Amino acid sequence: MRPARALIDLAALRHNYRLARELGGARALAVVKADAYGHGALRCAQALEGEADGFAVACIEEALELREAGIRAPILLLEGFFEADELEPIQRHDLWCVVHSPWQLEAIERTPLARSLTCWLKLDSGMHRVGFAPADYRAAHARLAASGKAAKIVAMSHFARADELDSPRVAEQLAQFAAATEGFDGEFSLRNSPALLGWPQLFRRGQEGEWLRPGIMLYGATPFEHYQAQAARLQPVMTLESKIISVRELPAGEPVGYGARFVSPRPTRVGVVAMGYADGYPRHAPDGTPLAVDGQPARLIGRVSMDMLTVDLTELPRAGLGSRVELWGAQVPASAVAAAAGTIAYQLFCNVRRVARVWHG
Ligand SMILES: Cc1ncc(COP(=O)(O)O)c(C=O)c1O
Repeated sequence: MRPARALIDLAALRHNYRLARELGGARALAVVKADAYGHGALRCAQALEGEADGFAVACIEEALELREAGIRAPILLLEGFFEADELEPIQRHDLWCVVHSPWQLEAIERTPLARSLTCWLKLDSGMHRVGFAPADYRAAHARLAASGKAAKIVAMSHFARADELDSPRVAEQLAQFAAATEGFDGEFSLRNSPALLGWPQLFRRGQEGEWLRPGIMLYGATPFEHYQAQAARLQPVMTLESKIISVRELPAGEPVGYGARFVSPRPTRVGVVAMGYADGYPRHAPDGTPLAVDGQPARLIGRVSMDMLTVDLTELPRAGLGSRVELWGAQVPASAVAAAAGTIAYQLFCNVRRVARVWHG
């Protein structure tokens, strides 16, 4: 059997969820969209059931996967509905629904519903992706309330730059939100992982009615480019691993892999690992990208192929056929691999496919 696999540590997931709640001092929806960032939405939701205050997903299809498997906790649709005919199953399955656009508001107004909805009304406080503009927010809120279709309206927004710990934009967005929602005394939600980990000074702990929305931190990856003390408390959830399936000794001056991107500068011992871009390992990872072989730090050399990649074993004489290779995990932070490859851990995790996923903890 091909040895490539992703181990998913559910105890670490629970640890990270508890940390989110502890740091934020509020209720938290675990963001499990995109198959829990590649970690398996159902398995992750089951591991957090009884503990998580609820879950957040991108669309009704993701929510129904959880509902049909028996997850009874609240589930928020982060983009609401894409077509008005989703409203009926949304209320039937008791899903919470973001309302981010005028067309959604109109659809709610004109669709007869047997039961009222829990709506999260989104403000565009500066990200300029979805949400009502500050000037339109109060009117949207009033219309939604007047429609009689919303049993509860939660005010929400999303930060664009909370991962930049010196950005003035977080406070600016927060001020926009405070102005747009002034006088509302209901529930509200702003904080994603970087806001939760990195901006405690802007939020009052235990503020009545707050909902946190942690995503990447649940999976144990830092959203920040540099060391950050709270993010250092996270435990990695996914370990992507495989084995060395071939070893060759090359003299100096020999190319390795497609395009001869790497040419051995000295006699080099090359290990071939059963892992490639078809498994989600980033093809753009450069020479020197960190990994670990039998627990020892090592580096990628040569271009990543579809099913294989190559590592430098010259300094690791005891490593060889069958040696375990960690592509990322406890020893090799996914964020370090992502940084080397010019991407983010979010994308690395989401891209993992084909390999067997093994849940434990
Ligand atoms: C609306 C919304 N809230 C929360 C999150 C979770 O963000 P993070 O993974 O950075 O914690 C996301 C993720 O993209 C999101 O789109």
